[in-house]
Amino acid sequence: MICLSIESSCDETAVAIIKDYRIVLSNVVSTQIDIHKKYGGVVPEIASREHISSVAYVVDEALKKANLKFSDIDFIGVTYGPGLVGALLVGVAYAKALAYSLNIPIVPTHHIHGHIAANYISYPDLKPPFLSLVVSGGHTNLVDVKDYTKFDMLAKTRDDAVGEAFDKVARVLGLPYPGGPEVSKLAEKGNTCYKLPKTRFDNYDFSFSGIKTAVINLAHKEGDRLIKEDLAKSFEVTVCEELVDTTIKVMIDKKIEKVALAGGVSANKYLRKLLHKEALKHGFKVYMPQLKYCTDNAAMIGVAASYNYASGKYFDIHDKLDLNAVANLKIDEM
Ligand code: KG4
Ligand code: ZN
Repeated sequence: MICLSIESSCDETAVAIIKDYRIVLSNVVSTQIDIHKKYGGVVPEIASREHISSVAYVVDEALKKANLKFSDIDFIGVTYGPGLVGALLVGVAYAKALAYSLNIPIVPTHHIHGHIAANYISYPDLKPPFLSLVVSGGHTNLVDVKDYTKFDMLAKTRDDAVGEAFDKVARVLGLPYPGGPEVSKLAEKGNTCYKLPKTRFDNYDFSFSGIKTAVINLAHKEGDRLIKEDLAKSFEVTVCEELVDTTIKVMIDKKIEKVALAGGVSANKYLRKLLHKEALKHGFKVYMPQLKYCTDNAAMIGVAASYNYASGKYFDIHDKLDLNAVANLKIDEM
């Protein structure tokens, strides 16, 4: 079973070839980071145009690396949401055209289901049910993964996503886009001297706008006295504690013994270490994608699409030519 998958929800044009659910035959990512860097963040219009100019080349390269031809592909998996609508549309339109010309099925796939599925690549024995802590530029969720294609959202952020907060803190500290890895690098040299607020709700929801504002205010108040390394460290530790404490609480309350990290922020070293340490105390098992599968890529989309395909969530392309991008697609909507 061979899937060609396309991911274009933000600023990476990515194509992968996946065999039998979890085997990555090729995984090509063409990143636009250098183009968006000078604007301090992703410019949606530019992202769409860059996807248009590179998608065909990335598809060719993925096939070449897998040593396959178009005729070897059984179905096309494509991210159709959530994300930037113009960026998503490029991948969706290309996927439809490819499926039509090859006369093979199309499998519309949810971006976050892909992030969660990245864990299946690294752990061949991992099977649902498990809990997933999804931490990306657009999402912060605790998801009950009931089955390969069955998801229940247990918690969400009420305002900013954690990756978004990392990116904003980076801006305040004068660091380039994307800010998460830069804040983390700076934090390695700092101490937790600054006291920053944590927000708690009656349910398991998250909130990161309070800490973001506290960081901005502190930076303005301290001016030249600000020790950037210490602020980066204080921010990183506070948000990671918030994420891990809530995750462990949900696992205890819901009697779930396995947790899988997912999304771009799962590349954060401190978060990986802290989740490992705290889960171990309770005898919980922890899964984390390899670093190359943490941030946006198409291998994760191909794995999620393969499970969708196996459970009948695919379409004859002639019945689905109206497939559209859905910018705010919900995790449990498919
Ligand atoms: O999953 P992703 O690649 O794109 C979305 O679906 O949003 O996540 C990108 C986010 C960005 O906010 C980026 O700053 C953050 O992940 N990120 C990190 C790290 N690597 C990427 N945040 C903290 N520490 C990192 N090492
Ligand atoms: Zn993502």
